[in-house]
Amino acid sequence: MSRINRSISVTLASVWFAAIAPSVAVAQSVVRGPYLQSGTPTNVVVRWRTDVLTDGRVCYGTAPVDLTPADLVCVDDRLSRTNHEVTLSGLNPDTKYFYAIGTTTKTLAGGGADHFVVTAPPPGTPKPTRIWVLGDSGTADAGAAAVRDAYFSFTGSRETDLWLMLGDNAYSDGTDAQYQAAVFNMYPTLLRKSVLWPTLGNHDGHSADSATQSGPYYDIFTLPRNGEAGGVASGTEAYYSFDYGNIHFIVLDSFDSDRSPGGAMMTWLETDLAATKQDWIIAFWHHPPYSKGSHDSDTETELIQMRQNALPILEQGGVDLVLAGHSHSYERSFLIDGHYGTSNTLVPSMILDSADGRPTGTGAYQKPTEGPSPHLGAVYAVLGSSGHTSGGALNHPAMFVSLNVLGSLVLDVTGNRLDATFLDSIGGIRDTFTIFKDPQTEAESTSGAPGVFAAAAGQSVEAKWEPVAGGKCEVKNESTNDKARGTVQVPATSAAPSNHLECKVTSTTPGFMTVAVGDILCVDVNSSANAVTPAATASCATPAAVPANTLRVRDVTGTTGTQDFSLTEVETQDD
Ligand SMILES: [Fe+2]
Repeated sequence: MSRINRSISVTLASVWFAAIAPSVAVAQSVVRGPYLQSGTPTNVVVRWRTDVLTDGRVCYGTAPVDLTPADLVCVDDRLSRTNHEVTLSGLNPDTKYFYAIGTTTKTLAGGGADHFVVTAPPPGTPKPTRIWVLGDSGTADAGAAAVRDAYFSFTGSRETDLWLMLGDNAYSDGTDAQYQAAVFNMYPTLLRKSVLWPTLGNHDGHSADSATQSGPYYDIFTLPRNGEAGGVASGTEAYYSFDYGNIHFIVLDSFDSDRSPGGAMMTWLETDLAATKQDWIIAFWHHPPYSKGSHDSDTETELIQMRQNALPILEQGGVDLVLAGHSHSYERSFLIDGHYGTSNTLVPSMILDSADGRPTGTGAYQKPTEGPSPHLGAVYAVLGSSGHTSGGALNHPAMFVSLNVLGSLVLDVTGNRLDATFLDSIGGIRDTFTIFKDPQTEAESTSGAPGVFAAAAGQSVEAKWEPVAGGKCEVKNESTNDKARGTVQVPATSAAPSNHLECKVTSTTPGFMTVAVGDILCVDVNSSANAVTPAATASCATPAAVPANTLRVRDVTGTTGTQDFSLTEVETQDD
């Protein structure tokens, strides 16, 4: 948090966008940002830097261009400064707002389709979420740019809901000028539309001090020290937590805060974990608990202490995924638990699942409960190669894969499914893994995307429908992204109530639904209170009663039979 005293008033814009006042004698321009901080379901902090002292204004509305005055709300900061920080509050959750920044008399940036913020969903509400993760990205060179461009190409028009920096964000000393080069000049288009959540690396710590929360790192970032974004207030920006949808994120300071058991950070960590009921817990900090890259977790103090002191608390609290950097490599573990010693103390019982974590390989990782439960396993990933690589033995036995490869990590969380993709700097996918929570007993529909279901490993199905005969429906294999569309039909049988509908889909994509469970070509949806008997059709050759409020996925090859999923929410959807 910057120590700017805010003097803000909220006004309706009368003429700001419509009639821009002529520039006064001194040129005013934006030299940093805008960038988004501490996004919540209702608030976001917009920050930017001007070349000269100006007052500040952010105007926002839900239409991208041609904003009329009635559509706009503006927040003003009447004090003159170069480092601007304006909080937008009272926003609606999971809503896209376009914005512009400037002075009270002149727009300096934004006002078009590329400056926006999408507020977070209400806490606990699942939403398909894309997260971009960078570690040790602060080289400000061609390597970092290649990693960036590979991700932009990969994600395309799929917007990034949030992004993480795992420390060493600006080499070599985390100075303001180095942050300008490594962060603000490197990622300007993403900074203006996706909230960035960082942690402190040792190089950032050369010029910043966690005890006093001073220095460029703490001046640049506005982070929730008072529980503003969910979680328990930490009282410091050095470590904090926040919620996004059904995910709880925990951010620790492995460099410059007390790492000892019973210290303030570990005590807060226990309290914070005890308070969350979120489906997913993702924790990140800089120094990896397991690594045999350019740093060795068997011999280096920060790494050892984080492993010995933080991991038992996190695993007791049900952590699912831990991300770190520092070693300039990519290392990714099996699903493990209870490994707090040096690498030679790893025993087979600590590896809860020795599969590759891939639905199309030897199997995704599965945790039997939906919310946080102790010691059901976590995946640990080192991602310190987003700016450069530095090799190492790369032979930690907890790791399924260890690569001396430039890249970044892409996380997609949909309901009870998490997919991770390690993307290299030329666009190659070098590792993937998937974790399911409670995969056998529940397929959860999300309110943000009605009818999205995550099924058992290798059989993830998305069904969209309109409960109107003739409406469109869609079945999608999440593993391969293959999909097919069909038409909702009323079964041609007098025994079937009229409110029973079938989404009969014929594959048009080669290889559709061929992963793991064979060809799934029929989905029966019964969203009524009545059990029904669907008609026998070519694609549904074995009619059977579908229980109320159930989605039935049928393998028409007959090799795996049917699988039913409880419909926790049923909503209509326009296609
Ligand atoms: Fe580092």
